[in-house]
Amino acid sequence: MNKKIYIETYGCQQNVSDSEKIAGMASEIGYTLCEDKAEADLIVYNTCAVRENAELKVYGNIGALKGLKRAKPHLIIAVCGCMMQEANVADRIKRVYKHVDIVFGTHALHKFKDLVRQAEGEHDFIVDVEDISGEIHEGLPIKRNEGVCASVSIMYGCNNFCTYCIVPYVRGRERSRRKEDIIAEVRTAAQQGYKEIMLLGQNVNSYGKGTDVSFAKLLDEVAGVEGVERIRFMTSHPKDISEELLLVMSRHDNICKQLHLPVQCGNNRVLKTMNRGYTREKYFTLIDKAREYMPDITISTDIIVGFPGETNEEFEDTIDLLERVRYDTVFSFIYSKRAGTPAATMEDVISPEEKKENFNRLLEVQNRICAEINSTYKDKILPVLVEGESKTDADTLTGRTDGGKLVHFKGDAALIGKIVNIKITEPKTWSLMGEVYE
Ligand code: 5AD
Ligand code: SF4
Repeated sequence: MNKKIYIETYGCQQNVSDSEKIAGMASEIGYTLCEDKAEADLIVYNTCAVRENAELKVYGNIGALKGLKRAKPHLIIAVCGCMMQEANVADRIKRVYKHVDIVFGTHALHKFKDLVRQAEGEHDFIVDVEDISGEIHEGLPIKRNEGVCASVSIMYGCNNFCTYCIVPYVRGRERSRRKEDIIAEVRTAAQQGYKEIMLLGQNVNSYGKGTDVSFAKLLDEVAGVEGVERIRFMTSHPKDISEELLLVMSRHDNICKQLHLPVQCGNNRVLKTMNRGYTREKYFTLIDKAREYMPDITISTDIIVGFPGETNEEFEDTIDLLERVRYDTVFSFIYSKRAGTPAATMEDVISPEEKKENFNRLLEVQNRICAEINSTYKDKILPVLVEGESKTDADTLTGRTDGGKLVHFKGDAALIGKIVNIKITEPKTWSLMGEVYE
């Protein structure tokens, strides 16, 4: 029988990458991917725990599967990922969402095939959310998403315990993969035709801590793998970036000159309560250094607005920081309380309305800066890796510059997977329009 699996992924690139492993394992037990959950014999929700909104969405979506399960009793519903690793979530699902068959956490990913086989027979609610972080399971099959970019995890977990963040609790302590295993995976992806490699970790700069292989050394080797035309990585923690890393980046043409460097906020007192391990001054020095090594580097960041105790005055320091750094992209979030983290017990000093106002101000300022930066791209000719057809218009192709800027242009689908020179004709706030330059 041709069985079908539908996977919905929430949250970060790490989850996307885990879902590619789920798809790989599923195909070994006879499931092929499908895009419509109504067709599926197995539905997997791979969840995110970073903010409450994402969790509410998951609960809503699990609830909505009730009818489907009633109409199709053999349907297996599995919920996995970071949220399952939180206290009480598995119990709540068992109690409230009786149509769910399997709940498993991030540490049980490698057991996926066994869990599904168990669910294919007579079974009770199947749950595997034990916190047994520390192991790395190599050799899981991967069914990569189609396209030109492949993600490769280099480490798992996080030791930083930023006071707002749940990741260290749900993903466990930092553990790095062996360099040889990473290089082998990169080589295979390149041989399969993937042109761009994204190295993934919660804090890539602490890769290999305690061994003689630093992230910079790893990156240096990845850059030497045949067929790898572009390399990106995320996420870098500002407290751990080394000069050696900037040097390696600047030395290799195929390492993209792009840095995602989450600052979270621009005020020193708040940074300290967040347990970030740097000051704004230290952060500015880092940005200056990166730009000294690579004058064209694009820089992006994450910002949290409304961290408990942040005053309106302190928020002004974040606005000031945006004006000084002038990021190419900012991912901004309103603080979301996560039970069990130190910040969950800290008091607010401003109202939710004020937080929203501050958040909107931040967007306004950043949109202006983005538009100003992008307008400097007019008439530039840039190498663009063509990723695919535009979702809205089949005649239009989309790709990215070395710095990661999205470019749209008219062209033939035969260009997909190639690096093409594009002349930018019309910069917009979020993307650049251009034409093929011959
Ligand atoms: N509330 C809001 N944003 C958060 N992030 C992490 N935890 C929280 C939280 N509790 C943001 C940070 C991080 C990004 C991945 O998510 O900015 O860098
Ligand atoms: Fe969360 Fe901080 Fe670790 Fe990033 S570095 S995953 S924000 S604890």
